[in-house]
Amino acid sequence: MGQNKLSGDIYYPSKEVIAKANVKDWDELSEKAKKDYPGFWEERASELHWFQKWNKVIDDSNKPFYKWFTGGKTNIAYNCLDVHAKTHRRNKLALLWEGENGEFRAMSYYSLHRETCKFANVLRSMGVKKGDRVTIYMGRTPEIVMAMLACARIGAVHSVVYGGFSVEALHERIEDSQSKVLIVSDGAYQRGKIVPLKEIADEALKRAGGIEHVLVVKRTGQEINMEVGRDMWLHELMALPIANQDYTVEVMDAEDPLFLLYTSGTTGKPKAILHTHGGYMVGTYTTLKYVFDIHEEDRFWCAADPGWITGHSYIVYGPLLNGATSFMYEGAPTHPYPNRWWQMIEKYGLNILYTAPTAIRGLMRFGDAWVNRHDLSSLRLLGSVGEPINPEAWKWYYKVVGKEKCPIMDTWWQTETGMFMITPMPSVPLKPGSGTKPFPGIEMDILDENGTPVADNEEGFLVIKTPWPAMIRTIYGDDDRYVEQYWSKYPGMYLTGDSARRDEDGYFWVIGRVDDVIKVSGYRLGTAEIESALVSHVSVAEAAAIGLPHEIKGNAIYAYVILKAGSQPSEELKDELRLHVGHEVGPIAKPEKIEFVESLPKTRSGKIMRRVLKAKELGVDPGNLSTLEE
Ligand code: WT7
Repeated sequence: MGQNKLSGDIYYPSKEVIAKANVKDWDELSEKAKKDYPGFWEERASELHWFQKWNKVIDDSNKPFYKWFTGGKTNIAYNCLDVHAKTHRRNKLALLWEGENGEFRAMSYYSLHRETCKFANVLRSMGVKKGDRVTIYMGRTPEIVMAMLACARIGAVHSVVYGGFSVEALHERIEDSQSKVLIVSDGAYQRGKIVPLKEIADEALKRAGGIEHVLVVKRTGQEINMEVGRDMWLHELMALPIANQDYTVEVMDAEDPLFLLYTSGTTGKPKAILHTHGGYMVGTYTTLKYVFDIHEEDRFWCAADPGWITGHSYIVYGPLLNGATSFMYEGAPTHPYPNRWWQMIEKYGLNILYTAPTAIRGLMRFGDAWVNRHDLSSLRLLGSVGEPINPEAWKWYYKVVGKEKCPIMDTWWQTETGMFMITPMPSVPLKPGSGTKPFPGIEMDILDENGTPVADNEEGFLVIKTPWPAMIRTIYGDDDRYVEQYWSKYPGMYLTGDSARRDEDGYFWVIGRVDDVIKVSGYRLGTAEIESALVSHVSVAEAAAIGLPHEIKGNAIYAYVILKAGSQPSEELKDELRLHVGHEVGPIAKPEKIEFVESLPKTRSGKIMRRVLKAKELGVDPGNLSTLEE
């Protein structure tokens, strides 16, 4: 990468890191992939198991509905488990887990395979068939991994709803996906308290129809309501002979759906991003192997929640496809003390830590001493995802956690991309705050309003110009919205919704969302969801939400509320509204600040001009106001 010519603040990888790296020469690999990207992906796909080989790597006959590995037959869960359970990896740890309360579990490939097959048979016995949707609403325990893989194994489509979401968010997702089975934990431990997941689910099920059975996983053991005929305990069914009968796997078409994952968009309800067995498998397998440089002896820790794409791709599928050991922790990073993470890295000898800037900033706040108490010499690589990482946090992570020997893989990607898109690899020189360049085989650009590429260091719209295997296939049930949202601004190119610039060395710097999506602590929330939660309160007539810079969370939500006639503004009402949003959407969506207003800035067509609110709050120029109504 022309190492001597780079400008700015550069961090070069050490000889040891390069010597170990799966990819030593990134430029060479990129050049090769550029000449023939289908060929590049085809080679990667050949490293995995297929019941029947594909006829075609990419079918682009119906753009933008791309298909990958058409004619190929596989099953991602088979590649995650059965393949390894038949080799020397049989007794290797697949999953290593620590509960917030200090409990510990370790599962080998053999045992995770066996338990998952039993779980799959339990689902079969409940009538779940290929193509059926199953909603999963659980805390971070090994059972969520089994639940996802069990669905994949029998060809059911999982839809995991993050355990931090609440009643209305869960209701909407159950209904939109038309799930017939819900898998839920009784509760989850978080910060020493219990999140009553089953209770929240019961309330959501009063609003949603369609669920025939609820499979309940015992974690916290508190008293819960079990509805006769509908609700069943997993551990009771797992003890029945039915759970043991067979280990058959559903042979899936490469393009058969694997999962739905809801994410926030610009307008309206969250949309279900659809991913498939074949392409997603090839994408997550390859990116994890190259970027986090997975080796046989590695213990990889992705500290995200399985309820987000990061967890899907890099706690569950990516690590298991690579036959690695995936570590999962149930609780909060600071429970009971701010050294919890460092303690676990030392205790289990973890080699790779992948987390979000918000978590890094949150832990940095407690000072270096908490980190320095622990031997973190097992760490070889670090990672970041979810939002731009500020250079200050980057440097702290690099120096204090990584002891200046662990390169930081700042990976830019989205729920829709399924896999890393802009990312370094260990052998690449780094610049704090930049994800470096697109992954081999992927072409990206930064365009102005008219579709012309911008000059170096100018800001513009980030787009993807080549299809990639783990790409979103559609928005479930809404093909039109898929085309409109991602492929209509610049025909033939995928619109990311982010703005970015590229420097003179070709390094990409992602700036942030340019639409009405707010990243709060790395979580993606739509202004529309927060606003509709506020408006669902009896006292509220209208509401607007915006994101404003926040030291730890990246962005914090500010909400402006017009009350209904007869409702009186008060501090108590503000608290009530915050609680209401927490109850409907989830604690992460609670506004930091609520302000009661008489009117909201709107365009003549009635759209709220959030940038005007934002500019006012920040004390900056609101820009062009010609469309403002008054
Ligand atoms: C949005 C996607 C896929 C991982 C979790 C987030 C922002 C993500 C980075 C990064 C700067 C980033 C973008 C993107 N984002 N990673 N390394 N640097 N921004 O997935 O919830 O679908 O959010 O997260 O704005 O569009 P998501």
